[in-house]
Amino acid sequence: MDIFLDGEGAIYQQLVRGLKNAIASGRLAEGERLPPSRDLCRQLGISRTTVVAAYELLRAEGYTNTVTGSGSFVAKSRFAKDRGSHLQSAIPPQNERSRIARGVFDLKNMPGRRPDGIRHAFEYGQPIRNKNMDALWAKEIRKAIPRAANRYPRVQGNPELRSALAHHIERSRGIVCDADDILIVAGVQQAIQVCIQALLNAGDTVAFEEPGYFSARKLFQIAGAKIVPVPVDRDGMVVDEIPPGVQLVYTTPSHQFPTGAVLSEARRTALLDYAQRSGAWVIEDDYDGEFRINGPALLSLHASDRNGRTIYVGTLSKSFSAGIRLGYIVAPPALQQDLLAAKWTLDFGSPTLEQMALAGLIQSGAYARHLRWVSEELLSRRTALASELMARFGTTASFALPRSGMHLLATFKSLGADAGAMLVRRGHQEGLALYTVDPCYVQPPEALGLILGFSSMTVSDIREGMAVLERVLSPLLQQAEHNGANSANVVPLKRLVK
Ligand SMILES: Cc1ncc(COP(=O)(O)O)c(C=O)c1O
Repeated sequence: MDIFLDGEGAIYQQLVRGLKNAIASGRLAEGERLPPSRDLCRQLGISRTTVVAAYELLRAEGYTNTVTGSGSFVAKSRFAKDRGSHLQSAIPPQNERSRIARGVFDLKNMPGRRPDGIRHAFEYGQPIRNKNMDALWAKEIRKAIPRAANRYPRVQGNPELRSALAHHIERSRGIVCDADDILIVAGVQQAIQVCIQALLNAGDTVAFEEPGYFSARKLFQIAGAKIVPVPVDRDGMVVDEIPPGVQLVYTTPSHQFPTGAVLSEARRTALLDYAQRSGAWVIEDDYDGEFRINGPALLSLHASDRNGRTIYVGTLSKSFSAGIRLGYIVAPPALQQDLLAAKWTLDFGSPTLEQMALAGLIQSGAYARHLRWVSEELLSRRTALASELMARFGTTASFALPRSGMHLLATFKSLGADAGAMLVRRGHQEGLALYTVDPCYVQPPEALGLILGFSSMTVSDIREGMAVLERVLSPLLQQAEHNGANSANVVPLKRLVK
């Protein structure tokens, strides 16, 4: 373990800096023992008193813990802090994108993720686990290994996968295309990045659903785009409110995130007309469009686009695996080369092995069977969640049953959105993770909204989780009622907390 002295100032200060850098860079990991002072003073040619003084300062500042007789160990919290925000604040943002990213990116508070030490979590966005797929996936990976040579991948993606997906989305999403029209990417996240690179200049305007998918919004913001929030109602994005002069529209028409609304036929027509008239591009994020819960899947927006303004984006993240990082773009032919060039700049192409294995899974029919299983499973979990919501919060919650998908949005109109933080805290104390809808908004919402994901909970987990939710939420609702609130009247938290 090398500790570097930078030659600036007193030796013991140099040593403290050297040790802090080793901790911050992870060379001295959380829980790891610092070198014994005797060894370090020999290694660096400095006095033992200097080393002991430096160790003492690190302990006093919380970087290390001392265990009598065993030595000094890197402390947990300090390590985590140094790796992120503490080090970051040592330099100003190095460019405009980093400046914006510092304002919008927070790895420690990713919405929808499951915190440690939690028994029940209504986390959203995680695909449902189908253990029956493990053996089939392993088989396809094994089959692909000898064929996936260790060469660079094709930038556009594996031809077998593109062809399998083209057949699949024609049947499931009404998109008529062939393998040449498909570009394989690393999920929606990279698809948007590719579109940004190929289509947007800093300062361009992006019409974005409000509420909407925060990760996509952050990508546009970091790219320097101006976000125009466009309201959403029960028919999806209120297309009439998109102002003139927008370069790009981002939308989730088949299952609006997070409200679950489906973009109505009239609005689909209006949106495609707008795009054609104004020359705007439309990104259709079809993140979970393949599930069928209530009847057959809807056609995609792309399927109705006669003028080639829609860039369709699909992903394997909800339907199969979020960790596989595979998705696909079907773009109008005139854009395809620019998108391909953008994909090349990002990574030269997605990993070959997983693409080949996935192609095999789709060709064998196993993927379609898996989707049917997932749809049935989601239906029973959604039914359990909805009936729990009705039974426990029938008069206080409003929610729409989504046509498909893995979450639903419940709104509690008698409580202000600022009750959310307290509710989340109380939930954690009871072993329950809850997620407010707030990150989906640019302008904070008035009422308390909870996104209740049901894909990573069994039916019995859902019931137990809802019982805990009732325990932590009911006192707040009762207090709101007591304070004379009615459903049209949002009570601010200030009036609830004495
Ligand atoms: C609206 C929406 N789009 C896309 C994604 C996922 O994108 P990716 O394919 O990058 O995993 C999510 C995940 O939660 C989502 O909610």
